[in-house]
Amino acid sequence: MDVFAAEWLNLLIRWAHMIVAIGWIGTSFYFMGLDYSLNKLERTNPGVLGTAWQVHGGGFYHVEKYTVAPATLPDVLHWFKWEAYLTWVTGFGLLIVQYYFHAEAFLIDHAVMPLTPLQAIGISVASLAGGWLIYDGLCRTKVGENVTLLALSVFALILIATVLYTKVFSGRGAFIHVGALVGTIMAVNVFGVIVPNQKKMIAQMIAGLTPEARFGEIGKQRSTHNNYLTLPVLLMMVSQHYPFLFTHPQSWLIVALIIVIGALVRHALNRVEAADDWDSYGWTLPIAAMALITAMFVTAPATRAVSTGPAVTDIEAQTIIGKHCLGCHARNPSHPAFKEPPKNVVLEDIREMRRFGQQIYIQAVQNRAMPLGNQTGMTEDERDALGRWVNGRK
Ligand code: HEC
Repeated sequence: MDVFAAEWLNLLIRWAHMIVAIGWIGTSFYFMGLDYSLNKLERTNPGVLGTAWQVHGGGFYHVEKYTVAPATLPDVLHWFKWEAYLTWVTGFGLLIVQYYFHAEAFLIDHAVMPLTPLQAIGISVASLAGGWLIYDGLCRTKVGENVTLLALSVFALILIATVLYTKVFSGRGAFIHVGALVGTIMAVNVFGVIVPNQKKMIAQMIAGLTPEARFGEIGKQRSTHNNYLTLPVLLMMVSQHYPFLFTHPQSWLIVALIIVIGALVRHALNRVEAADDWDSYGWTLPIAAMALITAMFVTAPATRAVSTGPAVTDIEAQTIIGKHCLGCHARNPSHPAFKEPPKNVVLEDIREMRRFGQQIYIQAVQNRAMPLGNQTGMTEDERDALGRWVNGRK
């Protein structure tokens, strides 16, 4: 495909992905908040668990939640499923156009594992399916009956997946796959469990039977998982733009901290909705803050000290940049995947190199995020030399 057309396709899918994901997460927040804010004393109709009064956009709303289901099926029932389905579909589309089409650039790192694009794509698809099956299995076994044990098992599953992904993919590829796996679990929870169970209850009502509460309870368990995963999954998705996250050698620790922070903040917000006593959930915020400080501490850039050595001249620095960067970062890149310099970073002459000095340092010396996937085989000595060149100009 023409590179320009591919960029547009990428942009449009990304746009759509953001729109539907905002819709999905919005409903997730809304319904969790609604559940927690139900007034259980005001029982208007038989079978009602609780009600809530809400005001939005100039109107007042009165919502009732039924313990299991209403006595008769309403004529018009609004479902909330397309947001979830389309988030997955557009997310997978984005995985295809960004990571499968450019597997060599974004997914594969030959220093990690010399995969062919087809192998990398095969691992990607198989791991998403396999991860879901393991998660679903966990929920259905005895483990699933114990909330804490299940939460810890899902947490461990995501961390194990992170470690395995970093053993096959580039750091960037690994992090997007952790996000994709969590997103897949969330979407299939809706598609494969929550909605089918709602349909089973409706079928029982149509058959004149009392719908079984069990179906609703299973749906609620998965829906709660989804709610707690919303904040972590969002950060995993944008982690791509932050090499200090995806190039960290202990990726599992980074992912663990992201999940702890996101889930605890989500919990605190849920408890605020429930108007709980601060004393009962206030502990979450100091712990989330500690996890955040830990994350900042462990990603602090002191990790790579540039070796001392002779001063590096402009000409030497230009030789290194010419060999390892200009394939992509030129006005007319020779690399087949790029028609324009990525991020508009052009390093063709010494003036431009000076201008981007700090970013060159971050991307190529500190984080090793560049050259992308180290396709040009840049050595540590060359990174050191580039570092000394940047430092020498301060
Ligand atoms: C194979 C192509 C390729 C090569 C080779 C390459 N880059 Fe990049 N570079 C990219 C892409 C793609 C991006 C945009 C990454 C993104 O979207 O997060 C980028 C982004 C950057 C950025 C901007 C980062 C930001 O987020 O602001 C800098 C700086 C950079 N590269 C420096 C370098 C340096 C220095 C080298 C050589 C040592 C190099 N690149 C080699 C493809 C490449």
